[in-house]
Amino acid sequence: MFGKKWAALAAGVMGVTLLTGCGGAADSAGGGAITLGFSQVGAESGWRTANTKSIQESAKSAGIELKFSDAQQKQENQITAIRSFIQQKVKVIAFSPVVESGWDTVLKEAKTAGIPVILTDRSVDSSDKTLYKTFLGSDFVAEGKKAGEWLVKESAAATGDVNVVELQGSTGSAPANDRKKGFADAIGSTSKIKVVASQTGEFTRAKGKEVMEAFLKSQSKIDVLYAHNDDMALGAIEAIEAAGKKPGTDIKIVSVDAVKDGMQALADGKINYIVECNPLLGPQLMDLVKKVSAGEEVPARIETQETEFDQAKAKAALPQRQY
Ligand code: AHR
Repeated sequence: MFGKKWAALAAGVMGVTLLTGCGGAADSAGGGAITLGFSQVGAESGWRTANTKSIQESAKSAGIELKFSDAQQKQENQITAIRSFIQQKVKVIAFSPVVESGWDTVLKEAKTAGIPVILTDRSVDSSDKTLYKTFLGSDFVAEGKKAGEWLVKESAAATGDVNVVELQGSTGSAPANDRKKGFADAIGSTSKIKVVASQTGEFTRAKGKEVMEAFLKSQSKIDVLYAHNDDMALGAIEAIEAAGKKPGTDIKIVSVDAVKDGMQALADGKINYIVECNPLLGPQLMDLVKKVSAGEEVPARIETQETEFDQAKAKAALPQRQY
């Protein structure tokens, strides 16, 4: 009784959306349903919406009671939510960290309370790996590398410089740091490929459009846009068209995610290549929640299986695309 009231009060006061679901899966330690506290980054992109839906639906079908909190892109909201989950004595805590750094204190609090933590989608840069049980998600460095390798091949016949502008994800986030690194590593030895401008577009369409407008004004020649997600690429496409240029032709575009709108733009020839980042983590997460709450050992790292799409592959995949 105290737990629910406290949570509702905390959510109201701090602007954190906290939804309580119900379910009936027996806690294998003996007794009530397994309660999972999940702190989500926010609702910045199509990818995030699909990820939230996958987690909510999977919790329901696994009979896990989900306490879902939307951090609205703020680390302090995630820390507040995790502390609220500890107060409520949830069985397991899972979260997708908005940024990589600054988690040790709250993770130590969860450990002291005996509540196992699962990282999903994004990891933390903590050196103490005992603070969480496992990390389920993509290899973001590999994603950036695939985007860079595509560009190296695509530029093989180019005789002059290939000028690239980069729309980075949210500053300090694992996908922004890692996709930048992977791409830079892949193009590293190809001196004609030059990243002439790189700025955050915060993983949103609106910011992607705004930053691309600025790039188009400040750069005399842009050959390629590398966007760390589809939403920023879609915003940038609007800016490119408004500037009288043809996305996919005058400016080549490579992005990451492969959400439906991105895949449609790829099929339409406005994007040239997309590296997939799979948001459907819910079923695997619920499986892990059951295992860790039963005290079973789980692998320290579980990597998501992903592919890449060119225009033909996108056209073939679109009719079955779930998100
Ligand atoms: O952490 C995954 C990234 O976060 C997705 O690529 C992006 O769209 C989202 O906002």
